[in-house]
Amino acid sequence: MSSSDNKPERTLADLGVTRPDQVASLFAEVRAQFDAKASEDFIEILWKEWRDQWLGRKSGFLSRITDNWLKPAAPDLKRTVGACLNDLRAHVEAKIEERRLSIERNEEEWSLARERVDLSLPGVIRPVGSHHLIRQVFQEIEDIFVSIGFSVVEGPEIETLYYNFEALNIPEFHPVRDDMDTFYLELPKGALTPLLLRTHTSPMQIRTMEKQKPPVRVIVPGKVYRRDNPDATHSFIFHQVEGLAVDADITFCDFTGTIEYFVKQFFGSGVKTRFRPSYFPFTEPSVEFDVSCPFCGGTGTAASGGTCSKCKGAAWIELFGAGMVDPAVYGFVNYDARKVSGFAFGIGIDRLAMLKYGIDDIQAFFQNDVRFLRQFP
Ligand code: PHE
Repeated sequence: MSSSDNKPERTLADLGVTRPDQVASLFAEVRAQFDAKASEDFIEILWKEWRDQWLGRKSGFLSRITDNWLKPAAPDLKRTVGACLNDLRAHVEAKIEERRLSIERNEEEWSLARERVDLSLPGVIRPVGSHHLIRQVFQEIEDIFVSIGFSVVEGPEIETLYYNFEALNIPEFHPVRDDMDTFYLELPKGALTPLLLRTHTSPMQIRTMEKQKPPVRVIVPGKVYRRDNPDATHSFIFHQVEGLAVDADITFCDFTGTIEYFVKQFFGSGVKTRFRPSYFPFTEPSVEFDVSCPFCGGTGTAASGGTCSKCKGAAWIELFGAGMVDPAVYGFVNYDARKVSGFAFGIGIDRLAMLKYGIDDIQAFFQNDVRFLRQFP
């Protein structure tokens, strides 16, 4: 409604409207003015202004028309004015609501467009990792032993002296404790027993037999700790797989046959094994297993003609310690040493992995250099 057109501010009498047909055309005029504006493009704030202009309670056009046209209307016009005003009000309210909905819809469309996820944008590339070589070798060894009836158990890395030494027949002041020069934990005063990082996986022999009656066939993969100075072949943390088989009639032949089976599975059927006498307090007899050098075919001579760099010309490579379980150990776990027998072995995984995959520095396993790790996907 143009500002010059302030008809709702005046009464019908002022406007010279006295007949119903004049009332009708006056309302038609107002409606046309409303409609002209209603088709404009609105944003929310302008829509509100427009709404208040028409529907505002005090000064909105419809209130003004009510006050200035309807209320003071001559009795013979009141009906017509009332009817026309109702029509106009219904029309105005419907239109204003219609525009409100369309503004809302537009805004929704806008925000959808704004927030649309563009699936064609390049994503963040997260490289897929792989198992560490040590983990892979654990897995290889586990698969071989599981296939011949062993199960896999794991144990604590923090041990008591009892499990790490005493129950394995290594009493206090026994010289082999020196070999394992050990990490002890600093404990609060009054702690019941000293604790240390296990120096081998052998404590799990004891823990397993304490829990379980024979027959026992387990392997124990895990981390072990010794106070070694780091160099190409030493690390203060390394990995072992312990093995233990105890049953009513396990013989030395079962023992060597099992080890030979494992070594051939791991290095290939072409290798030979041999054992030499050795010493461990918890096995008797104790042996050290060797494998014929898988790299020079047990000749000591490299394909190029020189000395084999892997076995340094010895033709054999020392693999790991093992033996028949010392009957003294059964005493610690309430097994009857007259009724059972068995064997145990302790494989150093890092050394085995280095041998098999031609790695010349044990430190590479702990440095997390992806250029190294990626070579073993
Ligand atoms: N625990 C021994 C070590 O770490 C290895 C071993 C295990 C030897 C089982 C014999 C039997 O040196």
